[in-house]
Amino acid sequence: MPNIAFISPKGGAGKTTAALLLALGLAESGARVALIDSDPNKPLVHWASLPDRPASISVHPAPTVQDIRDAVREASRREPEWFIVDTEGSERGAMVFAALRFDLALTPVAGSQLDLREAIKAARMTEAFGKRAGSALAHRAFLTRVPPALKPRTLATVVAGLRAAEVKMLPTGLVEKEAFRALFAIGGGFEALEAAGVWGVPAARHNTESFVRDIVDLVRRPDAAPSRLAAEAHG
Ligand SMILES: Nc1ncnc2c1ncn2[C@@H]1O[C@H](COP(=O)(O)OP(=O)(O)O)[C@@H](O)[C@H]1O
Ligand SMILES: [Mg+2]
Repeated sequence: MPNIAFISPKGGAGKTTAALLLALGLAESGARVALIDSDPNKPLVHWASLPDRPASISVHPAPTVQDIRDAVREASRREPEWFIVDTEGSERGAMVFAALRFDLALTPVAGSQLDLREAIKAARMTEAFGKRAGSALAHRAFLTRVPPALKPRTLATVVAGLRAAEVKMLPTGLVEKEAFRALFAIGGGFEALEAAGVWGVPAARHNTESFVRDIVDLVRRPDAAPSRLAAEAHG
């Protein structure tokens, strides 16, 4: 059962959005997903309280790190095929490592130098926890809030910075999309957005599918991923 944790020392980078998109994408392919909401502001719990939540997604609050184990226990009763943990954007989020076994930590990077530094920090932190636990923990950064049209220079600088620091990246980045923001106001998934007349839903869905496929590939076939990532980097 894959355990995916979204971590970054900084808030507002795009963890919660990406965690929900991963859950929605997995649910669309028929999987049962448990979302652990480990942000005291409970953004995912709030999303779940809106109409049209897919029945295969359950959301479990864990307002403090100490609550994570209980939330996981409660979630386990529904026998989910995936666990996704969303953490709050602070150093405290890193303590999730101590509270939970996970297979993959993901850190969003919007196109800023600050995000770049935070992503490098998160990758190093994952490495350190892995060493302490005696097993290599996978970490990937991914771009988010990518402008849909022109890729600005700063984005190229950020990608180069990640590469220089040997921080591995998911091939797919999440685009800056009104539809992604609207999910938290309207609730449900892409069908609910379409029914509400939100603009750009097909592209948002397509972007999400590609993002989710990267993560599924990585978790299912860890050996196949590096060559693919290398091909992307050079292609
Ligand atoms: N890909 C995206 N497209 C549009 N808005 C986004 C995207 N990712 C994040 N946002 C917006 O940026 C803000 C912070 O995102 P959020 O996912 O809450 O970050 P975090 O959980 O890391 O604090 C929110 O207002 C969210 O709607
Ligand atoms: Mg968040």
